[in-house]
Amino acid sequence: MNAIIIDDVAPLLEEIEGRTWWRACSAGAVPDDEGLKLGTLPPAAVFTQDDRFFCLDDTCTHDTYSLAEGWVEDGTVECTLHLAKFDLRTGAPLRPPATAPVAVHPVTVVDGAVYVALPTTYLIKEETA
Ligand code: FES
Repeated sequence: MNAIIIDDVAPLLEEIEGRTWWRACSAGAVPDDEGLKLGTLPPAAVFTQDDRFFCLDDTCTHDTYSLAEGWVEDGTVECTLHLAKFDLRTGAPLRPPATAPVAVHPVTVVDGAVYVALPTTYLIKEETA
């Protein structure tokens, strides 16, 4: 698997206890107002809106549906299965039927690549793009 960070980028990324920075994808791989599911376990996804990037767990907390398939607008992502809505910055549920937040993860862009700091317990199955 080729998703580990490269040495010249590592000094630019703040160390966060219990997390490891991974190169998730190129910034251009995430269409504006959409999500990109990453090859991690549990699944995480990168979202972008107005040139800002967000990383959340991909699975809706109401049921097991991919939030990367959802609609992104006004700083939120809406699950397409039953229309729960989550805050992209905090993961807080903003509309039922979801009542539990989704986990959010630090994200940054360096030299056109998106890096996410995932818990060390997450498995990286494959590089996305
Ligand atoms: S699975 Fe997302 S709202 Fe039901």
